[in-house]
Amino acid sequence: MTTHENDTTAVTAVPATMTAWRQLAYGGPDAVTATRLDVPRPGRGEVLLRVRATALNSGDIHVMRGEPRAVRLAFGLRRPRVAVRGMDVAGTVVSVGDEVTAFAVGDEVVGELPGGGLAEYVATPAAKLTARPESVDPVTAAALPVAGGTAWLALEKAGITPDSAPGRRVLVIGASGGVGTFTVALAALRGAEVWALAGARSRTAVEGLGATRVLDYREVQPGSDELPDGTFDAVIDIAGEPPLAALQRLVRDGGRIALVGGEGGSILGPMRRILGGALRSIGSTRRFVPVVATTTAALTGELIALAAAGDLAPLIERTWPLSQAGDAIAHVDAGHTLGKVVVVAG
Ligand SMILES: NC(=O)c1ccc[n+]([C@@H]2O[C@H](COP(=O)([O-])OP(=O)(O)OC[C@H]3O[C@@H](n4cnc5c(N)ncnc54)[C@H](OP(=O)(O)O)[C@@H]3O)[C@@H](O)[C@H]2O)c1
Repeated sequence: MTTHENDTTAVTAVPATMTAWRQLAYGGPDAVTATRLDVPRPGRGEVLLRVRATALNSGDIHVMRGEPRAVRLAFGLRRPRVAVRGMDVAGTVVSVGDEVTAFAVGDEVVGELPGGGLAEYVATPAAKLTARPESVDPVTAAALPVAGGTAWLALEKAGITPDSAPGRRVLVIGASGGVGTFTVALAALRGAEVWALAGARSRTAVEGLGATRVLDYREVQPGSDELPDGTFDAVIDIAGEPPLAALQRLVRDGGRIALVGGEGGSILGPMRRILGGALRSIGSTRRFVPVVATTTAALTGELIALAAAGDLAPLIERTWPLSQAGDAIAHVDAGHTLGKVVVVAG
């Protein structure tokens, strides 16, 4: 065991190397393998975390595969610039770099990081982090930032705020995944009447989150008798499958349709759908709003506060130990996650 001698503060012995799940090229789950890497050192404004839990997101899969291709412009042209996947991390601060005042060694924290979470240690900007209270366990905390933050922002953009939500009817399309389960739970918590489109196997789970009506997305189409036009104040489209015209007909005048997800084309992903929504919104009282989630420490803090108060409990489908993180990645890559998948490092 060695310590990081150059760090401003380092009271916990930190090993020189660690296990990390790294990829050296874009590809499927097999491209990410367990290896030994040097434990990173926290730079200015950074802290070193001993990782406790890392939740996986479809965003990890997009970066892992480099798909859609536009992803590579931001994350690395030939391979991911950050070689270790994992953005949603709960961990313990084990050393702090220069100019870090918000956190000290021993603090328990959580946040959305630029990557690196599928490892025993990760160095990350302190500004990304929020304190984790003892009452919120690491697995629960790790599940919150990306999916919970995206759900929060989607509801805000669709006008489903805590003040305005009571009595309003919201449809969540793609309600069973990470973002979808948080969207249902937060909308219900805000007092909205929540309808959901999800796979039949997820019906009971989505009802348990507060949806009053759950319809099978393989059986029920927008505009059908079960999902009539003009009945919703807001639609949150996370699956990105139904035609835009059908979505626009679902909302009442003044209603909004938040475009959150969907795979889209292999080059530009959902961009075409977002542009189509913008065009359809011109001169219309039923507008599309794109959601580009930028989760902040403050937003993670809001979610942590709800979890600490017992008002928000992420649906965790399964946890895997870090030694089997490859299986967790393959599971999320298959596209049928129910709620969240979390890798537990120890
Ligand atoms: N805009 C942003 O900032 C932002 C941020 C985060 C994520 N996203 C996007 O949001 C989407 C969801 O992300 P996620 O992490 O929540 O994914 P996820 O957890 O992997 O979602 C998986 C779930 O989606 C369900 N599903 C798949 N196709 C569906 C369809 N046509 N209709 C209804 N449900 C369907 C699956 O149900 P079955 O197993 O029953 O098929 C599964 O439960 C992705 O496209 C992602 O890229 C966008």
